[in-house]
Amino acid sequence: MKREKIAAILNAPKIGEKVLVKGWVRSFRANRFISINDGSTINNIQAVVEFENFDESLLKRITTASSVAVIGELVESQGKGQAVEIKVESVEIIGDANPDDVQKTVMQPKKHSLEFLREQAHLRFRTNTVGAVFRIRHAVSYAIHKFFNDEGCYYLHTPIITASDAEGAGETFHVTNLDMENLPKNEEGNINFKEDFFGKKVNLTVSGQLEAELAALALGQVYTFGPTFRAENSNTSRHLAEFWMIEPEVAFNDLKDNMDLTERFLKYIGKYILDNCKDDLQFLNDRDAKEQQSKPQNQRNELSLIERIQFVVENDFKRLTYTEAIEVLRNSKPFKKKKFKFPVEWGVDLHSEHERYLVEKEFKCPVILTDYPAEIKAFYMRQNDDGKTVAAMDVLFPGIGEIVGGSQREERMDVLKKKIADFNIEEEELWWYLDTRKFGTVPHAGFGLGFERMVMFVTGMANIRDVIPFPRTPQNAEF
Ligand code: 4AD
Ligand code: MG
Repeated sequence: MKREKIAAILNAPKIGEKVLVKGWVRSFRANRFISINDGSTINNIQAVVEFENFDESLLKRITTASSVAVIGELVESQGKGQAVEIKVESVEIIGDANPDDVQKTVMQPKKHSLEFLREQAHLRFRTNTVGAVFRIRHAVSYAIHKFFNDEGCYYLHTPIITASDAEGAGETFHVTNLDMENLPKNEEGNINFKEDFFGKKVNLTVSGQLEAELAALALGQVYTFGPTFRAENSNTSRHLAEFWMIEPEVAFNDLKDNMDLTERFLKYIGKYILDNCKDDLQFLNDRDAKEQQSKPQNQRNELSLIERIQFVVENDFKRLTYTEAIEVLRNSKPFKKKKFKFPVEWGVDLHSEHERYLVEKEFKCPVILTDYPAEIKAFYMRQNDDGKTVAAMDVLFPGIGEIVGGSQREERMDVLKKKIADFNIEEEELWWYLDTRKFGTVPHAGFGLGFERMVMFVTGMANIRDVIPFPRTPQNAEF
């Protein structure tokens, strides 16, 4: 007999049909009602056993977390809470689970803290919340590929091991196979990377952008979707040392085209999740509502999770320049009352408190900030005519802060060379990047979406560690 997925059975129940279901027991009540989940949906199917017809020794083994195969007729449910149930004819225990051991885990059916779930990240997929998050994470990923495929963008696999530090922040993880206990030295007494595997110093990539630019300047439009690594020691709810980034790069696009593409892209993802993840989203929506209730009044979100996604899908993002944003911030109540921790004046990098003020208090919608001071952005961003700012853009989201960073790229060889010198980068290291500006250079633009930050937004999870299977953060690389 062929196994049927619980999602398929519940979506289109065929009453009277004999079905085979395999899954994990969530609970077994009154020696009669087995609640089974197989991961295909957040919903469990109820299997009803007439205990008189079964061996007591078999029934004893139907415990929370054990795996079972159940065969029986699909009937209309007698009880409340489900439309259909399985009238069990046979039960097979596939794998036992000792109840005493289950007691100590997140599989015990009761409310657990997210911190406890993180400690048991290997088992937390068995819980409703985490199951819902990872089904939605998959859907976001699929929506992203679908969007770019439909746009005619090619998926480009950029290297994970690289010698470049695209963002120039110097927060890279080295990759080496040198003997750490016995490092080879050169004449100056420094480590001799010529003896290392690649014959030079390399690191895990912080961004695939520079390589994506090379391809975009021939294929027209490409996107990357891969892991990126940053050794920034920021132990916040929004930073990971290993995260996934999506980086489209489009030839002939300017900053406005870039903003339009970003906005359309983020709205598409939101709509895709609203349309395709209804059960999981409803569950997380209700969870988020309870979470909001437990917060102080002034920190609560006025909108529910579903409303927050709808809001992004239906409303235009507010667009303003960095210079205008500084004005807004300096005229704000928290600034005047000296409530901001970090200074606000032209030239400083904005902090999360400023970004959240703009998004959550001032404009109450997603914001795209453009034209930042050149000094606080990467070398590759296109210089504006004022000589002070660059054609950069950051997208700021409610509850998240920066979700996208991007720019129009500097396509003019002379300006780019000057920027590289100003940023103290060795020109020879970027010979391949500069080459594209030598042969038919064109304006082009792109951006990077932090994948986990997007998943946080559509699931309502407040900590980035809860939307990636096995988070990598300072002092933590378990599992
Ligand atoms: O703003 P970032 O650093 O931009 C780039 O890397 C560009 N090369 C992108 C491009 O133009 N192609 O990073 C892009 C996004 C951020 O807006 C944020 O959402 C996410 O990546 N991000 C992180 N997410 C989780 N943990 C971290 N440590 C992150 N650092 C950046
Ligand atoms: Mg950024």
